[in-house]
Amino acid sequence: MSQPVLVTGGSSGIGLAAVALLAERGVPVFATVRTVADAERLAARPGVEPVLCDVRSDDDVARLRAAIDERGAGLWGLVNNAGVGQVGHLTTESMQDMRDVFDINVFGVHRVTNAVVDLLLESGGRVVNMSSISGTLSSAEMGIYSMSKHALEAYTDALWAQLRERGVHVCAVAPGNFQSALATNFVQRVLVGGNPSEWLLNAYDPDFDLTRSQYPPADAVASVCYHALFDPNPHRRYLVTPDADESLMTLRQAAMELLELNRAASHPCSHEELHALLDEATAPMHEQEGAAAASASDG
Ligand SMILES: NC(=O)c1ccc[n+]([C@@H]2O[C@H](COP(=O)([O-])OP(=O)(O)OC[C@H]3O[C@@H](n4cnc5c(N)ncnc54)[C@H](OP(=O)(O)O)[C@@H]3O)[C@@H](O)[C@H]2O)c1
Repeated sequence: MSQPVLVTGGSSGIGLAAVALLAERGVPVFATVRTVADAERLAARPGVEPVLCDVRSDDDVARLRAAIDERGAGLWGLVNNAGVGQVGHLTTESMQDMRDVFDINVFGVHRVTNAVVDLLLESGGRVVNMSSISGTLSSAEMGIYSMSKHALEAYTDALWAQLRERGVHVCAVAPGNFQSALATNFVQRVLVGGNPSEWLLNAYDPDFDLTRSQYPPADAVASVCYHALFDPNPHRRYLVTPDADESLMTLRQAAMELLELNRAASHPCSHEELHALLDEATAPMHEQEGAAAASASDG
């Protein structure tokens, strides 16, 4: 049996799908939840140990670490999945809105990762950060959410660079739109329990379907997490969308950023050099890592 994996935000949506898949495949799972009812529901699944934890709280995260230590089996993987959505215009959203989202989507990831990183270094394990296509895209209505996911992408790159030499692989998963409680939770947190902006109050349609039932279930994202956790050659980035349109939209934005940067660069690449860059980037990751290691030892 493998060492356990910790999944944050296991109560619904992508986190729950990941917990279910891991448990089904015999991987012991620690799953964070925030209510006793969710803990009882998850505890009914064989192999799943729910832990009450709000990722904003140092004390909760210390208790989470204690629960992992108590099991005494170390830790193979961490899926930093807990997160919240945010809709609103940047010019009317408060600093508090921004702090709330960053506290969960960015600082929460940092807090949990640092609490268990020594265990991952011991096991030579994996970190999977749940980013989003909003880690590449940004729109007028999703500014704060996109900022948080862009930050998570940068966090992932820095952590990857820091830990790769020490045997821990770090990656980002960027899902498109899948079924989850993201919209319902946003309405509860901001419209019901928070301080909604004037813009949001005007834009909100109470007949809007919050269930996201028009999107597929999150199983495809869970499968990608499994690959990132256990495949011998994990990727650095996974883009997983319900259809080709969402992928294309995301890749087009990434390409536009490359071209915009190049267009106004002090030392722009030629057309041929850009093509060579793409060829380089499409080489399998282990070849690139081999080449990078060779050039590092040459230098
Ligand atoms: N679904 C999508 O289409 C989609 C697309 C791109 C990225 N994502 C990302 O996927 C991740 C999961 O979202 P989801 O769509 O599955 O939404 P979800 O169903 O709302 O799940 C979010 C999870 O995060 C937990 N959470 C929220 N605030 C927390 C906190 N302060 N401390 C600990 N846990 C907290 C929630 O717990 P409670 O139940 O207690 O609130 C829930 O378990 C998020 O990072 C999201 O940004 C989702």
